[in-house]
Amino acid sequence: MLITPRQDKLNKIVVLNPKGGCGKSTLVTNLSACYAARATPPAVMDYDPQGSTMAWLERRPGDLPTIHGIAAYKKSMQATRSWQLRVPNETETLIVDSPASVDHNDLRELTRDSTSILVPVLPSSMDIHAASRCIADLLLVAKIDRRDRKLAVVANRTRKNTKSLGKLMRFLDSLGIPIIAVLRDTQNFVSSAEQGIGICEMQPSRVKPDLEQIEKVVNWLDSWPQRRQSSTSTTSIGKRPAATRTLLHRTQFGSV
Ligand SMILES: Nc1ncnc2c1ncn2[C@@H]1O[C@H](COP(=O)(O)OP(=O)(O)O)[C@@H](O)[C@H]1O
Ligand SMILES: [Mg+2]
Repeated sequence: MLITPRQDKLNKIVVLNPKGGCGKSTLVTNLSACYAARATPPAVMDYDPQGSTMAWLERRPGDLPTIHGIAAYKKSMQATRSWQLRVPNETETLIVDSPASVDHNDLRELTRDSTSILVPVLPSSMDIHAASRCIADLLLVAKIDRRDRKLAVVANRTRKNTKSLGKLMRFLDSLGIPIIAVLRDTQNFVSSAEQGIGICEMQPSRVKPDLEQIEKVVNWLDSWPQRRQSSTSTTSIGKRPAATRTLLHRTQFGSV
């Protein structure tokens, strides 16, 4: 049966960064392939009109574990929006892919009832600047409270120990937002995308370092019940309003 499960039971993961090409669909497809190996099939919801995640799903070989796809970018005149966006009742994990341009209303809709929000970032100065804007909007527009610990960054296409990676790490550290994984720049991601599979479905010896990083992301995502629990029972991580104001100021005046 297709009906949205109770929100408190649904692990809704949102992958977001208005910068095109930063690795949103790569992360969404790889995470959904990992969750597909579990007992209950995950659902992916693609809000990007480019439809990369839906196209990946169409290429997916039929003998691999099922992933339920929802083309949220298609707006139907025949059905209500909530009917269009329904997911199978048994779904435990929903992974949301987002488009390159997101206005404030879209941002609120995308992140509503999310358990985790991942921001993939390429470590170049321009991308770090765009990501800082995105993080500022998440905190100030979508009102994501850092005490909920649902926001994390995945550094993508990195080469080790570059100046820009260090800069990204220092910047996020100052905001108390963790970098939970660092994905290297490798053809493995390109090749898995072409085949409609995830890194976890490729030959393990070929993808070992990449799979380790994807598993780090999954482990962090799986900790959402504990993160939710601790955010309701503690206020030890401050809201840091001053840091948020500084972030907004910096992103407005381009000094990140
Ligand atoms: N770590 C990586 N190594 C190599 N290529 C990558 C990596 N991450 C993404 N890509 C490639 O970069 C392009 C853009 O990535 P994509 O996930 O589609 O970005 P977005 O969804 O944010 O626009 C794709 O061709 C993808 O295969
Ligand atoms: Mg995409």
